[in-house]
Amino acid sequence: MTLQPTILRFDSIDSTNLEALRQARAGAPEGLCIMAREQTAGRGRLDRSWHSSKDAGLYFSIVLRPALQMNLWPLLPLMSALAVSDALMKSCGLSTDIKWPNDILASDRKLCGILAETAETETGSAAIVGIGINLTSEGVPEDLRATATSIEEITNRSPDGEGVMTGLLEAIAERYEVLQSPRGAEHTLREWCANSSFAFDRQVRVSLGGDSFVGTTRGLESDGALRVETADGKIKIVRAGDVTALRPLELTTRHAE
Ligand code: BTN
Repeated sequence: MTLQPTILRFDSIDSTNLEALRQARAGAPEGLCIMAREQTAGRGRLDRSWHSSKDAGLYFSIVLRPALQMNLWPLLPLMSALAVSDALMKSCGLSTDIKWPNDILASDRKLCGILAETAETETGSAAIVGIGINLTSEGVPEDLRATATSIEEITNRSPDGEGVMTGLLEAIAERYEVLQSPRGAEHTLREWCANSSFAFDRQVRVSLGGDSFVGTTRGLESDGALRVETADGKIKIVRAGDVTALRPLELTTRHAE
């Protein structure tokens, strides 16, 4: 059945993901969306915080109760990244890239982040997908301006947050329906690879905690994990961490190692 979104809007909230988790635990059905003009404790991946000043970003979370085997749930954030790409193209004419697992980049800088979480509830397992899109440059903290951007900066226009939101809900409904259809997982993985310059043959550094290694990307596993080939020809399967594209200097240094 097609996803039926219901939106709960807040002026200010700790985190739309936390509210969606609370609502899911209280029995909220699939399709409940939480939106806020600002978050006082916005959360990012890997226990980071997400800068969420008033009206400078789109802060949105949706409750999903997927009819999918648990081992395919890691595809939900990948599917959501595709939906964000679709919505940005449709609502702003913006062409974007996806960096594993689900950062949306414009001109090589981060425009959107996605945080997917799961919760056990009385009505079954739920997934919360939280999406933060930088609308204006106030949405990007000063110390991140070299690596992050906003719709306003990229398009040179005042973004229409409501238009982006409408496009996003439509795109999530479509991509989510495809993911749950027969062969939907394979289709989603193929589409992710087709929409990401990071899927194949990209020289990257993978960092997690204090550790990091470099290698070349070699596509995705069936659960969305990234395959990275190291210099000794071995494939490492990456299920967590940060991926960054290696700059030419790092490449030179690496070859000299
Ligand atoms: C990342 O680290 O890239 C993920 C950032 C996700 C931020 C969004 S904003 C809406 C939702 N609520 C949160 O607290 N986090 C997500």
